[in-house]
Amino acid sequence: MTQPEVRISSRAIDRIASGHPWIYRSDVKSESAAEPGAVVRVLDRKGRFWGQALWSTQSQIALRMLTREERPFDRAFLTERIAQAAAYRPLVAEGAQAYRLVASEGDLLPSLIVDRYGDCLALQTLSQGMERMKADVVAILTERFGPRAVVERNDVAVRALEGLPEQKGVLAGEPSPEVVIEENGVKFHVDILAGQKTGEFLDQRENRSVTRCYARGRLLDCFCYTGGFALTLAPQCESVVAVDSSSEALEAARRNGELNGLDNIEWRQANCFDVLKAADHDGLRFDTVVLDPPAFARHKSSHESALRAYKELNLRALKILTPGGFLITCSCSFHVSESDLLAVIAEAALDAHRTVVVVDRRTQSRDHPILLTMPETHYLKCLILRAL
Ligand SMILES: C[S@@+](CC[C@H](N)C(=O)[O-])C[C@H]1O[C@@H](n2cnc3c(N)ncnc32)[C@H](O)[C@@H]1O
Repeated sequence: MTQPEVRISSRAIDRIASGHPWIYRSDVKSESAAEPGAVVRVLDRKGRFWGQALWSTQSQIALRMLTREERPFDRAFLTERIAQAAAYRPLVAEGAQAYRLVASEGDLLPSLIVDRYGDCLALQTLSQGMERMKADVVAILTERFGPRAVVERNDVAVRALEGLPEQKGVLAGEPSPEVVIEENGVKFHVDILAGQKTGEFLDQRENRSVTRCYARGRLLDCFCYTGGFALTLAPQCESVVAVDSSSEALEAARRNGELNGLDNIEWRQANCFDVLKAADHDGLRFDTVVLDPPAFARHKSSHESALRAYKELNLRALKILTPGGFLITCSCSFHVSESDLLAVIAEAALDAHRTVVVVDRRTQSRDHPILLTMPETHYLKCLILRAL
């Protein structure tokens, strides 16, 4: 059977040549009938071969480049790339029990995510092409890692852009795996079938560790989820107030507090904007504040409103920090750059009449690789600031 072909515009050729692996539908000039998720040959308008890509019949990202050469996209191909991803992890996640084993484009496996939680694996197949390969991925993971369970966490809205249903469940192994992992010496129950993301925010693992040397006194952890920062920093602090709007997350956080024998944390279900406002109004002061909100700019169109939200949060946090206090402030919105974030915090600092020192500028943990030629892979910003 001949492999389907897709011809693309010269603008898209420039994009591939610059190292970006996505081609948008508006740059597709002609296509031979290809099934959803097929592997196609990518050609320029003159018919020259540029590589192979996963084809989507639905998404605005019509093509995701797989290779620049002609070779079958099969189990052997997947096995090789998963092995390459796995071989890199001991260098960047040494000793970690939970980390991202395969990070999509960052590991040259577009739209495939595999997270490791101890002896269990959670995966996401986020395009028509990877969805077609799901059974092979599970077989490879099972053979190579012998996991207790492999679950799929395809209950994410982006799948709708590919015309794929939201679904989750156990694909192999134990039917309802209980998972406890240790991260930076802290134990966490992880709900790999129902927690946010695939269970935990693994991209903050290194930031949670690094911030231990700054946290002290009274800590306010805003957007605490299951207690990632609060539990890691609590031993350094006199007291912790940890806030999240999700009752499920807080229930898990409380269990995690008990599991670690930590009794200096008050878990509070509330809107963090309200808590920060009330703290300022009531004259409460904290020595350390963590802000790790959800992405406020999921699309380019929400850039301005996102900046307003980041400014408000950071302004309120700076107002309630004691002199010399630390603000650990994050953004996981790709559409808000580090310089955007620094600029709004500078405005917030001026409004709050605080002088701020940039102690460290950080990003996602290194098991979430950043591709030099694909800005979308650099999404998390974590600034450690000191307010004089
Ligand atoms: C990026 S996650 C935080 C991850 C966490 N810091 C960690 O290290 O595991 C964002 C959290 O914000 C919570 N959230 C979203 N909007 C909120 C709001 N307005 N007030 C409080 N929590 C909110 C979500 O439930 C989610 O747990």
